[in-house]
Formats: sequence, structure tokens, C-alpha cells
Amino acid sequence: MGGISLLGICALLVSCASAEGEKSAVEPEFVLTYAENQAEDYPTTQGAYRFAELVEERTGGKILVQVNAGAALGDEQSVIEQLQFGGIDFTRASLSSVGEFIPKVNVLQMPYLYNSADHMWKVLESEIGDQFLHSFEGYGLVGLSWYDAGARNFYTSEKPIRTPEDMVGMRIRVQESELMSRMVELIGAEPVQMAFASVYSALETGKIDGAENNWPSYQSERHYEVAKYMTVDEHARVPEVQIIAESTWKKLSPEYQQIIRECAKESALYERKLWEERTKRSREIVEKAGCQVIELTQEEKVAFQEKMLPLYNEYCGEYMGLIDKIVEVGK
Ligand code: GCU
Repeated sequence: MGGISLLGICALLVSCASAEGEKSAVEPEFVLTYAENQAEDYPTTQGAYRFAELVEERTGGKILVQVNAGAALGDEQSVIEQLQFGGIDFTRASLSSVGEFIPKVNVLQMPYLYNSADHMWKVLESEIGDQFLHSFEGYGLVGLSWYDAGARNFYTSEKPIRTPEDMVGMRIRVQESELMSRMVELIGAEPVQMAFASVYSALETGKIDGAENNWPSYQSERHYEVAKYMTVDEHARVPEVQIIAESTWKKLSPEYQQIIRECAKESALYERKLWEERTKRSREIVEKAGCQVIELTQEEKVAFQEKMLPLYNEYCGEYMGLIDKIVEVGK
């Protein structure tokens, strides 16, 4: 009798152990990397974490996405290259960087193209936005969803700027983007292309006189500590995009592909909400810290806009029809 009960106990233990094993050890089919160049608490990074959570949940743990924030996997340009080779699976990137690989997307980041955030979102959420997401294929990339990045402004360390003339001769950091370099050249300043992570020290050491970015980046990267004059010229709204490597995409079943797309779109809605809150908070933080905000009148903004107009012929010659459609959406 003792023998039987011992056997019984053993059987019970074995079955408990295997049930426990099944629960905790869902073998993932894919463990994928996600590169993000912003800090952990930044809206786009939080969007990435939300994306990873949703994907894990909806695939029952079969796809795990590991988010690497703070440019741990490299700067934006090299991360995009790595996606093209399949070395990294996902990223979120600024269209300024993507435009170097897929020139057509420059259309969506032209200076003063949108008259408001609403206008930009109407365009991105329309068929136009969808077509652009699909235009990534053939470049080793697949566009998944649009993220918000607000409007970009110029900021300087030594003296405030109100007019394009104030910028003549200044060395201004731009992203590694020909379009952005040319924009600064047209104003009469000298563009200096540089990766995002190097901007703080370049401002601090006087290697550059200024840079341009949105409120959250200006605050998060502490640029305001070394460039306290912020001119709200809102010269560009540069959409951001979540991308998956085409080689990774092709390994996924249609069912997984659909889950990934849905989760990307949901995470983007979350990021947009965080973006709005963070923009306000960042502005408060920098103002409290003594940063000087130079608000421009509509006429003063037009002076910048006029300088930048030649860019449309230079970069969008063959896409003028598309530009007209985008402008129409904002009317
Ligand atoms: C924005 C964007 C970054 C980009 C940066 C830059 O902050 O979110 O992805 O790298 O601009 O100016 O380089």
C-alpha cells in the first residue's frame, strides 16, 4: 500500500512539474531587436515598449521584441542600414534620416508643408500616408506606422535669432540629411551634419552655434542648457515612422504580419497621446530653467518660409501633384 501511494505521489509531482513547465516556458519562435535613439522615458521609446507588450500578448509569447533605447544599437543612419541587412529587426526613425535612403519620403517633411499638427495627421492617416508606408518596400524596409515628432525650431547658444539674416554665417547642426543641409544653406547659415547624440557636446564646446529640433528633444537631450535661445519658427514637421526589416517581415506568417501591423498602429496612438503631454511639459521645464523663448509673428515666419521655397523645386520637382494634394488636405 505504501508503494502505491509513493507511486501516486511521484505521478502527481511529475504532472505538476510539467504543467508548471508548460506555463512558464512558451518557447518564442522569434526574438526580435528594436532600436530607438531616444531616452527611456521619451514618448517614442514608451511607444516602443507598448508595441513590444502588445506583440507578446497577441502572439501568446511567440514573438518577443527587445527594445534597445538611448541609441545603444547605433545612430539613426547606421540603424537603418542594419535594418536593410537584417541585423536589426525594428526601429523608429525620423523621416529626415529615412529620406537619405528613400528620396521620395522627403515630400512629407518639406518645410512649412503643413499648417498644423492636424493637417499633418490628416495627410498621414489618409491614402497618401498609406501609400508612403508601402513605398518602403524595395528598399529592404517595411513601413508600419507613423509616430508624432511635433514641429522643429532653431535654437542657438550665443545670440537670439528673429530673422533669417540673424543666422547668416552661423554653424547650425542638422540631421544627416541633404535636404536639411540645403534648407540651412538657403537661410545663409552653414549646415553641420552630425548624429543626434553628439549635439550636446558640439554646442557646449562651440563647435556649432545652434541646432534645430522639437521641444521634447531640446529638453530631453539637455540642449537647452547649452543653447538657451529658442526661436519658435516651426520650420518643419518631420513625421517619424516605425519600420521592420523586410528580411524579417518575410519570415513572418501573414497572421503574425497582421498582428505586428495592428500593434504598431496601436502603439502609435499611444505615442501621440504621450507626445502632446510631453511637449507641454518639456516647454515648461526649459522655461523654468531660464531658456529664452522667441515667439515669431506670422510675417516673421513667412520670412523663413520664403528662404526655403527653392527646396520645393530642388527636391519635389516630380512630386508637385502630390504636394498640391497635401496642401489641399489642409484647406
Ligand atoms: C528627433 C528624432 C530623432 C532624431 C533627432 C535628430 O528628435 O526623434 O529620431 O535623431 O530628431 O535631430 O537627429
